[in-house]
Amino acid sequence: MGIIKPLPELLISQIAAGEVVERPASVLKELLENSLDAGATRIDVQLEEGGVRLIRVVDDGSGIVPDDLPFALARHATSKIASLADLERVGSYGFRGEALASIASVARVSIASRHASQSHAFRLRSEADAVEPAALAGGTVIEVADLYFNTPARRKFLKTEATEFAHCDEVLRRMALARPDVAFTLSHNGSAKRRLASAVPGNTAAHNFSRRAREIIGEDFFPHARPLNVTAGPLRLSGLAALPAYSRSGRDEQYFFVNGRYVRDKLLTHAARQAWADILHGARHPAYVLFLELDPAGVDVNVHPAKTEVRFRDARGIHQFVFHALQRTLAAPLSSAASPAEAAPAAPAYVPSAFSYARQSGLGVGEPAARPYLEFARAAFADAACPQSGIPGTQSAPAPTVSQHEETSPLLGYAIAQLHGVYILAQNANGMALVDMHAAHERILYEKLKQSLDAGPPATQTLLVPLLLSASEAEMATAGEQQEALALLGFAVTAAGPRQLAVRSLPALLAGGNPVDLVRSLLRDLAEHPASRVVETQRNELLATMACHGAVRAHRLLSLPEMNALLRQMEETERADQCNHGRPTWVQLSMAELDKLFMRGR
Ligand SMILES: Nc1ncnc2c1ncn2[C@@H]1O[C@H](COP(=O)(O)OP(=O)(O)OP(=O)(O)O)[C@@H](O)[C@H]1O
Ligand SMILES: [Mg+2]
Repeated sequence: MGIIKPLPELLISQIAAGEVVERPASVLKELLENSLDAGATRIDVQLEEGGVRLIRVVDDGSGIVPDDLPFALARHATSKIASLADLERVGSYGFRGEALASIASVARVSIASRHASQSHAFRLRSEADAVEPAALAGGTVIEVADLYFNTPARRKFLKTEATEFAHCDEVLRRMALARPDVAFTLSHNGSAKRRLASAVPGNTAAHNFSRRAREIIGEDFFPHARPLNVTAGPLRLSGLAALPAYSRSGRDEQYFFVNGRYVRDKLLTHAARQAWADILHGARHPAYVLFLELDPAGVDVNVHPAKTEVRFRDARGIHQFVFHALQRTLAAPLSSAASPAEAAPAAPAYVPSAFSYARQSGLGVGEPAARPYLEFARAAFADAACPQSGIPGTQSAPAPTVSQHEETSPLLGYAIAQLHGVYILAQNANGMALVDMHAAHERILYEKLKQSLDAGPPATQTLLVPLLLSASEAEMATAGEQQEALALLGFAVTAAGPRQLAVRSLPALLAGGNPVDLVRSLLRDLAEHPASRVVETQRNELLATMACHGAVRAHRLLSLPEMNALLRQMEETERADQCNHGRPTWVQLSMAELDKLFMRGR
């Protein structure tokens, strides 16, 4: 007697629901995606008891013809794909034909819909078999009530009403970010929680996105957000990336969308993490809203039932592209970017029609579309290379006053004074800038050291009289073992006695600093992470140590030309607006902000 038996349909759906319907928020996600796939331009969501008691989604989309209503609730029935070829370049959110069936197996579902071809609306309830007439002017209303009413074990895993509502709200926020062209409302237990207006006709997509992002992410993010829009062949990365002065203790403000779909993808998060690695403290997390668009054939979304994971055909190329695009955006010198105090994100929104752009691009399904991304990416960045030449020395000409040079006045303006030996006060076109001189100089040195090392062995300065320093046994040992690493960094350090080291040369860039402290710190770093070959990440940490010691110390008095030279160097240096620890190196106070302080003009 055989013991293997086919499972009943309902149980199959309940098993599938285990993957798709984790909590009310996952139901809401599926319903919102269906409404967007149906072309809705406004979507109203009503929740009761965190969505457990009721999720009601009202849309103005295409509607469903009555004959199709039973199929909408049936497993493996979909209007979105018909073949494997469709699946491989899917452009809609849904394609499995499984969401509503899964939901209907663990909750009471009712669909009312009116297709444009019908004289009135029809409704189907999951517990009834027959389609019945209903009253509805257009679009579709889906109600999901009493989630897990028939699977009490699942119900026990739900959290408090407030937590479940928060998850639903987060789902709506993601959708709303991806689709600024669609209006959304959200209410909970009868009270309005969100009202997100649709795009303003006549406004650019960028403007509409910016407006939506402000509503969703909040104002604090914007003064630090840099817009980006980088294309490389069929790849595009756009959105907003926050400079390190705005970072988070968690990953809660990391939104990544692939072809308009919110994803949690290790590869993309890693690429982003790396782009910030050099400028953000390790314990902090970057904030961003990013949209990656590519040929749908280059990405497989059929990896997980909830579709939040994706697989890229050319994973390496995508990683490189995203990393470089972000790194460039974050590194752009101040002079080429808007003042960080100016909230002017002009990020292009994800345009829904981009779903289909690849279809028109004529790439066949079997073509290795993704391979050349890397080359495209390289070409695009070659053009975007930052100007590095002409960094003025400290002998720069005396500063003209700002008023004489309104149009051409440099971003950070001209120094007026040094405050308490710590800050430089400068007047610029906008108002005033305050610069943390040590932090700024440290950043400049760090970038210069990196560049100089990347270009080959660093220029060194041989000391006429070797500098002697007393050393511990451990320091003596490290200096002996790490000769090669030290030489690579531009140092010649040799033993001058049983407990004494001699520094014979050091990098020319650091000649002005305090070599004793510097060499001690370097030896300590090298002892902790001995390097037979200085690998890049470690090398950069060593360079950061060097920059910190080489930078002007607080309380050193600077002349005005020295201060102005520092300001000019900041403008020319990549990533100059934050120090190596992610703190800002300068702040801007505009005339408007100053006037506000003094309540002028009120
Ligand atoms: N709000 C809606 N407006 C119009 N048609 C809808 C709506 N919701 C569902 N449908 C129709 O019902 C079908 C089934 O929806 P369901 O979510 O179960 O599957 P899917 O969206 O095709 O695929 P997936 O399981 O990947 O979500 C859809 O293919 C669509 O034709
Ligand atoms: Mg669906």
